[in-house]
This record gives sequence, C-alpha cells and structure tokens, in this order.
Amino acid sequence: MSEISAAITAVGKYVPDYVLTNQILETMVDTNDEWITSRTGIKERRILKEKNKGTSFLAINAAKDLFNKIDIDPKDIGLVIVATATPDMQAAATSVYVATQIGATNAFGYDLVAACSSFLYAISTASSFIESGKHKKILVIGADMNSSMIDYTDRATCIIFGDGAGAVLLEANKEGLGVQDEYLRSDGIGREFLQVPAGGSIEPATEQTIKDKKHFVYQDGKTVFKWAVSNMANVCEKILQRNNLTINDIDWLTAHQANKRIINATANRMDLPLNKVMMNIEKYGNTTSATIPLLLNDYEKQLKKGDNVIMTAFGGGFTWGSIYLKWAYNS
Ligand code: UT7
Repeated sequence: MSEISAAITAVGKYVPDYVLTNQILETMVDTNDEWITSRTGIKERRILKEKNKGTSFLAINAAKDLFNKIDIDPKDIGLVIVATATPDMQAAATSVYVATQIGATNAFGYDLVAACSSFLYAISTASSFIESGKHKKILVIGADMNSSMIDYTDRATCIIFGDGAGAVLLEANKEGLGVQDEYLRSDGIGREFLQVPAGGSIEPATEQTIKDKKHFVYQDGKTVFKWAVSNMANVCEKILQRNNLTINDIDWLTAHQANKRIINATANRMDLPLNKVMMNIEKYGNTTSATIPLLLNDYEKQLKKGDNVIMTAFGGGFTWGSIYLKWAYNS
C-alpha cells in the first residue's frame, strides 16, 4: 500500500420529499404491503416529482449537505465523480454540470456508469488518484433518479426502486486510514438480465421503442437475486481472507440495498451478526448508486475512527465487488 491512503472525511445526502409508500403502490398495481415487505424489506421510497429536474439536482443537493457539515472551499476539489445509472442526458456528463453548480470550478468531472456498483467503482478510481498524489480532495457522489426509467404499471420493478443521492469527500490520509483494499469484478453475461433495452446506441429511441416500453427497466429478478447472493458473499470472503481479517475484526457491513433478503444472506454466509449490518432499505428502496453513501450518511454518528468497514455491491452488467476501508473520523 502507498504511504498516502484515500480516506472518507465527510458525507452528505439528499432524498426528495415525496414518499411513495407500499400503501400508495397498492392503489397503482396489483401488489400489497405484505408481499413487498416480506420479499424485499422495502416500506417506502422517495421520488423526485419536480418537472425538469434530474439526477444532477439530487447530486447537487447531496454535495451541498456535505459542504454544510465541514469547512471546505469547493475550489480546492480536484475531481468530481458522479456515480450513476441515470445521467441527466446523453453525451453531456452530469458530473460536469454538478461541479460547476457547487462551485468546484477548479475540478474536472466525469460520470461513472456501472449500475449498482457505480459507487464502489468510483471510490476505487478516486482512491487511485489520491494514492498517486495527483489529487488531494475528490468528491464522489452516488446519485440516481431511478423513477425516470421505471414503468409504474409494472409491479415487478416499480416496487423496488427509489431516487436519492449520497456524497463523500475523499482526502489524502497519512495515518493508514481510509481505503485498504478492493476486489472488483464484472461479467458481461449479466446484461440480458437487467437492462433498459432502448435509448442507447444499439436501439435508439423511435416511436416503436416507446410503444414497446423499451425505455423502462427490465429485470429478471430471480437470476439477478441468485448471482447477487453468491457473488457478494464471495467477494466479501475474499477481501477478509487476503487482509487476514476475521469476522470479529469487522465493525460494519455496508451492502448495496437491493433486497433485505440478499443483504441478510450475505451477512449469514459471512457469519456476521445483523447488528453490524447497515440497513435503510425500508426507507429508500433501491437507489442504485446512492445506496452505499446514503448508508454511510445515515450511520455517520455510529461510525468511529478506526472502524473496519466492508462495502459491497452487486448490480447490472453484471458488476460487483467489495472494498475494505478503515473509517477515518468521529463525527
Ligand atoms: O440492484 C440491482 C440488482 N438487483 C437485485 O439485486 C434484485 C434481485 N432480485 C430481487 O430482489 C427479487 O427477485 C425481486 C424482489 C425482484 C422479486 O422477488 P422474488 O421472490 O424473486 O419474486 P418472483 O419474481 O419470483 O415472483 C414470485 C411471485 C410471482 O407470482 P407466481 O408466478 O408465483 O404466481 C410474481 O408474479 O410473486 C409475483 N409478484 C408479485 N406479487 C405481488 C411479482 N412482483 C409482485 C409484486 N406484488 N410487486
């Protein structure tokens, strides 16, 4: 490991005000609170309702929340990465607009698109820039407006996803805190099981693609579920082994919030007690790139300097992985 490590030194979040509860969904599609709660753990999710606002709005507000907590000049930030599966638009990167809007005028920015693993991959990328000495302060924002690609007549997907954003500041650390190791994987076999079929270069938008509802998320939930359980547990075991960590050394599992059953199964396979497992899926559903930073924000007061945290995710592509970090501050 290099002498300089990349540590998270601040977190922030934003979720829209509108709460879409299971009870409201019962009036929209053929579903019920009991099914949703027992199959997913979700009770409600937040939806961005304002017209002409997208993922950048969520990301900007999460960054502003972070700035309100610490003394920082946004001009000192060297790079802004927006991890997202729902960028504002094609071609013009969301992160560039976000950086300008938050006053990070000396930063460059780009989006990192890797479905539910976007945030983990972005942490990996940002850490490398910091470890190499190239940048001292990097803002990573996981943000998704999933409602922009959900068919609210499809009960298989509309009960799962929500909108939100979480932001973390990464800074150079010389105490050995922050990111310790990463094990990131991907397998293109997964793209047929979770995708938005049209609107990209393979099938650009036409009247027909709209009629065929091809701009909405399609998911083969059962297949994704099986892959998620086995692969998240595998990468967590791997990262524990190669860092000589036992379960007793782990303070927190910070797992992508796609389904409470997947998270519990991962913890069970690791023999990790559930009081060490961060969970907020009941409030926000699956916010794709935002789940992990939202967890870090919601558990910030419980996290202590030196805590060993295992972050893990699985998502479309397929993409998945695990990052081991030592928490760097007491709030
Ligand atoms: O974040 C990206 C990665 N994504 C994931 O990790 C998601 C992984 N998959 C899952 O979380 C689960 O597969 C789902 C939550 C999406 C679905 O749960 P499931 O236990 O796999 O249910 P299923 O799709 O096998 O459906 C079981 C039954 C079916 O009825 P029959 O065929 O048994 O009569 C469905 O039609 O439940 C029915 N069903 C519903 N019933 C009430 C499906 N959706 C609903 C619904 N309400 N919303």
